Amino acid sequence: MVNSMKKELRRAVIAGNWKMNKNRAEARALLEELVPMVKDADCGVIVCVPFTDLETALEALKGTNVAVGAQNCHWEASGAFTGEISAGMLAEMGVEYVIIGHSERRQYFGETDETVNRRVRAALDAGLKVILCVGETLAQREQGITGEVVGLQTKVALQGVSAGELKRIIIAYEPVWAIGTGRTATSAQACEVNHLIREVAAGLYSEEAAAALTIQYGGSMNAKNAEELLNEEDIDGGLIGGASLKAPDFTAIVKAASR
Ligand code: 13P
Repeated sequence: MVNSMKKELRRAVIAGNWKMNKNRAEARALLEELVPMVKDADCGVIVCVPFTDLETALEALKGTNVAVGAQNCHWEASGAFTGEISAGMLAEMGVEYVIIGHSERRQYFGETDETVNRRVRAALDAGLKVILCVGETLAQREQGITGEVVGLQTKVALQGVSAGELKRIIIAYEPVWAIGTGRTATSAQACEVNHLIREVAAGLYSEEAAAALTIQYGGSMNAKNAEELLNEEDIDGGLIGGASLKAPDFTAIVKAASR
């Protein structure tokens, strides 16, 4: 059993996933509003924006405590992959993070555990940090196979990732049934799966590595429920969709994570 009572060892990280929202002007306005509101945050703050907003975000967030992330990258370095963006291209711009394996990519764009693993490898090789998403569907939860599904997703995604590289990975547990539905996992449900992910990491690496791993929860996290979720021992932050599109809501979650 991994001793998760080392929450204070881990830095809480709140990441916004804007998904396919905000043109450049809207992105600039939102970031200009957000920066002064979160400047004293005592946790990591990241915004993962559409590719077309990366340049704007890098410019607006230069010298601030808010890091910039993308929402996907391809596994090859370059070549005939029309419409794709490589990890190296992101790193060269100054992007620090990339979300990989989001359930919307698994659901709508044919992402598999294997392609997630290839993208994770490519991102690490390019020097990026990864927010790796895992999570079960409602049918899987109702079948009682949440642990198996999330365990397998985690193991396959981390194939070939060294203990040193694990330090550049954040795992986000996002139950598919809680994303954009307004239906949040209870804090106990979320903590249970986060703990299980930590145990998988302990098995793959070591108790120390697992105890240091930041594991977020995502899925309808908002200004109202954030505090309760973030108080759980194994929930080290959040990956925020809808609520990251409004500066006051996102700030409230950042404040709840600042301790
Ligand atoms: P919502 O916060 O809108 O449910 O989205 C969660 C999510 O998918 C973040 O990646």
